[in-house]
Amino acid sequence: MFEVRILGTGSYAPDNVVKNKDISKLVDTNDEWIVERTGIRERRVSTGEETSMLSVEAARRAIKDAGISPEDIELIIVATATPDNFIPSTACMVQKELEAKNATCFDVSAACTGFIYAVSIATQFIKTGQIKTALVIGAETLSKILNWEDRNTCILFGDGAGAAVLQRSDKQGIISLYTGSDGTGGEHLVLPAVQLNNPYCKSNNDTKNFVSMNGREIFKFATKIVIKCIEEVLKDTPYTLEDIKYIIPHQANAKIIEFVAKKLKVDNSKFYINLDRYGNTSGASIPIALDEVNKKGLLSSGDKIILVGFGGGLTFGAQLIEWS
Ligand code: UT7
Repeated sequence: MFEVRILGTGSYAPDNVVKNKDISKLVDTNDEWIVERTGIRERRVSTGEETSMLSVEAARRAIKDAGISPEDIELIIVATATPDNFIPSTACMVQKELEAKNATCFDVSAACTGFIYAVSIATQFIKTGQIKTALVIGAETLSKILNWEDRNTCILFGDGAGAAVLQRSDKQGIISLYTGSDGTGGEHLVLPAVQLNNPYCKSNNDTKNFVSMNGREIFKFATKIVIKCIEEVLKDTPYTLEDIKYIIPHQANAKIIEFVAKKLKVDNSKFYINLDRYGNTSGASIPIALDEVNKKGLLSSGDKIILVGFGGGLTFGAQLIEWS
C-alpha cells in the first residue's frame, strides 16, 4: 500500500457578500439572532457562477499550489449536492475546462460530508496503486436550492468551492479514515430531486426543489457524531488529541463546535472556524477552511490535523492527516 499526501489546496467563492442585515430585508430575522445562534455574520451568494465554475477556479488554485499540471491528474471527484446538471457530472465539466484529459471523473453525493467521502475514495485509488494523483473538490451553489422565504434555512447557507490535490507519497500523509452513514435519519435534512412525473403517474407531484431541515435534530446528531468521528480516527494510532494542531470541522454552526470542544475538553482554538464569513457551504466548507489554514501558513511539516464532517443522509466521517 502506498502513502497519500495532500500536495496543494485551493478555494474560491463568489465576490457577492451578503450580510445578516441584508437577509433581514427578505425574512423576519436579525443580525443578533443569527450571530447568537450560529456564529454566521455573512456569506457569499452567487450572482451567476454555477457550481462547475466555482469548482474550476478552486481547482486551478489547488493545481498551482501543488505545482502539477492538469495532465498529471488521473482522478477528479467533485462532492456536491448542487450540481449544474445530473448529466454531465460536475467533475466531467471541470475536466473539460482544465483540459485534464487523463482523469476519470465523477461526482459524490454525501451532502456536507461529501468532501470527506471524496477524499476517502481518492485515497483508496492512490493507496492501491491504481493512480498517483487525484483532484478532490467540494463545491456548492446552495443559494439556488434555498427557499428565500424560509428563515429557518436561508440564513444558514452560502456558496463556494474548495479543492485539494492528493498524491502518492513515500512519507506518511493520510494516517487514518473513518466514514459512516445512518439512512434512518434522512428525513431530517431533505433536498428533493426531480420528482416522478410521467403520463402513467396517478397524481402529479409539484414538490419544490428547496432544502428543508429539522435543525434541532441535526444539531443533536452533529454534536454526538463529530466526537465519535474524532475518536475513531485517533483509535489504533499512536496519537491523541494533544498531538493534533487543528481540527477542521464542517462549518455549520459555531455552537456545535463549542459544544464538541467542551465535551472533548480541548480549547475552542484547536477548531479552525471561518463560518462567520462563509456560512454553511455544505460540501465546500471543509476544503475552503483547509485552504485557509494552508495559505495562512498555519501548518508545518509533521503537524497532525483532523478533518471532520457530518450532514444530510445522514452521513459522517473524518480523516487524520500528517501535513508535509
Ligand atoms: O450542514 C448540516 C446542516 N445543518 C446544521 O448543522 C444545523 C444544525 N442546527 C442549527 O444550527 C440550529 O438548530 C438552527 C440555527 C438551525 C436553529 O437554532 P435553534 O436554536 O435550534 O432555534 P429553533 O429552530 O429552535 O427556533 C427557536 C426560535 C423559534 O421561535 P419560537 O417558536 O421560539 O417563537 C423560531 O421560529 O427562533 C425562531 N427562529 C428565528 N428567529 C429569527 C428560527 N429561525 C429564525 C431566524 N431569525 N432566522
